[in-house]
Amino acid sequence: MTITAALPQKLGRMWTLPGVYAPQADTHLLAQALRDEGVTADMDVLDIGTGSGALALLAARMGARVSATDISWRAVATARINAARDRQRIRVRRGDLTAPMAGRTFDLVVSNPPYVPTPLMPRAATRGASVAWNAGHAGRQAVDRICAHSHQVLKAHGVLLMVHSGLCGVEASLGRLRDAGLQCSVTGRARVPFGPVLTERLPWLRAQGLVGPDEEEEELVVIRAERS
Ligand SMILES: C[S@@+](CC[C@H](N)C(=O)[O-])C[C@H]1O[C@@H](n2cnc3c(N)ncnc32)[C@H](O)[C@@H]1O
Repeated sequence: MTITAALPQKLGRMWTLPGVYAPQADTHLLAQALRDEGVTADMDVLDIGTGSGALALLAARMGARVSATDISWRAVATARINAARDRQRIRVRRGDLTAPMAGRTFDLVVSNPPYVPTPLMPRAATRGASVAWNAGHAGRQAVDRICAHSHQVLKAHGVLLMVHSGLCGVEASLGRLRDAGLQCSVTGRARVPFGPVLTERLPWLRAQGLVGPDEEEEELVVIRAERS
């Protein structure tokens, strides 16, 4: 699936506390992948880095038993409030990636993690809202850990759907997921204009060779990985 026009935005407007990531193009691309995957009432679903809870809510509306994690207390509160407003039961826990779900396994894991390549900056500048996008020099701090460890929270034949930018390396993700024993491929793509964070970082990204001189768009990809 490649989407080049505007992404369908069927998630509706989500209420968020200040500093919590509101659904954007990457959320909508992953939401489409989740719909295409098909979610049924007998499925356990985990949303890693839930933010507003948009993807967790979508899975809950499709009938699944849904859990979600986020490192940010504000995101946890936002997702809980959005679930209550929508009268959906979602177990939202604060913590690092899958850590709050230790010992549990899921049929479907979705994640839209931080993935934006990030220059070295003072620690204070990497807190707050930017925890949603800053992801280390290569943009792979969270992505690599999800690739390496998500099989531990997948049931047999469980599926991971993860979205990230092509800027942080699609082949690197596919290689790491295969190293972890998962069968994987790119199942969704969308080209979107650079948002404010990438635009502000363009001189650095160009100096790193991550963005060409005339490029004005990034490619988002959805990677599907299945535990056999
Ligand atoms: C790009 S936002 C995505 C939010 C939402 N899932 C969406 O698609 O709109 C990334 C989210 O991951 C959370 N996050 C960042 N690092 C994390 C970590 N180590 N463990 C859990 N969540 C994390 C951020 O707080 C943020 O809410």
